[in-house]
Amino acid sequence: MKTTLFYFTGTGNSLQIANNLCEELGDCELIPIAKVFHKDFISVSTEKVGFIFPLHYYGLPKIVHDFLAKLEFNNTNYIFAIITRSGDIDGAALVQVEKILRNKSRTLSAGFFILMPNNFLLLPDDRSEEENNEIIKNSKMDIKKISESIKINQINTKIEFKEGKINFFERTNLKFHKNVYESDKYFFVEETCNSCAICESVCPVDNIILVEGRPQWLHKCQQCLACINFCPKESIQYRKETIGVKRYYHPETTVKDLINQKK
Ligand SMILES: Cc1cc2nc3c(=O)[nH]c(=O)nc-3n(C[C@H](O)[C@H](O)[C@H](O)COP(=O)(O)O)c2cc1C
Repeated sequence: MKTTLFYFTGTGNSLQIANNLCEELGDCELIPIAKVFHKDFISVSTEKVGFIFPLHYYGLPKIVHDFLAKLEFNNTNYIFAIITRSGDIDGAALVQVEKILRNKSRTLSAGFFILMPNNFLLLPDDRSEEENNEIIKNSKMDIKKISESIKINQINTKIEFKEGKINFFERTNLKFHKNVYESDKYFFVEETCNSCAICESVCPVDNIILVEGRPQWLHKCQQCLACINFCPKESIQYRKETIGVKRYYHPETTVKDLINQKK
């Protein structure tokens, strides 16, 4: 049975999970959300549909929220979400997906979380590179298990859904959505910038242009942190909080993968 997998990624974690899952499932098409989210009308016609994306502020990345609200399903009878995250709090993401689907008279069949290395430099952790590699190794085993349950259309949501009720996590996430486009005003670039334009290339929403060789942010930011994590000179900072903080992107992910996300 064919599966369509929609993914969004800032630093490759969700992309690698999507790639691994696609391999496990076989007959599967990967579609980057960054490539289709701006269309007025988006529809999908496979029986199985999955969404793979990072947890942002206890909930959905804004781009994923806006995309899901637009998506129309035809012939789909099994819908799942896989959320990558660096901590262990579920937050509101699955409830948010369920809410959007209910508006379309659909429900979420299954939801999964996968622990991945942290790319959120504003809240750095102290995991070593070895620990991150171990986490990535374990994520591959997680995906094998998850794919088995997706193959047999297992129902697994474990969502405590209360109509109309907004919890602390959802409120926090909605506040993040409200301010996220403009949050890029806190990025700045240091003298060490060599005008390589990688920041411009990896930005999934084309929010960066180089002006006189220096990045400028255009206030439609998703705060995925691709720009700051992929900068080879570590010249991009977010306020002063990221100075001296170790950058991260998934070791199997390349700049080209990020460019392909929007092409
Ligand atoms: C803006 C932002 C907010 C984040 N918020 C959370 C969070 O609330 N909980 C969590 O466990 N991880 C959080 N993270 C970490 C990411 O979810 C995690 O590292 C994810 O695997 C990154 O996936 P990606 O490489 O596909 O973008 C956040 C990351 C970013 C950039």
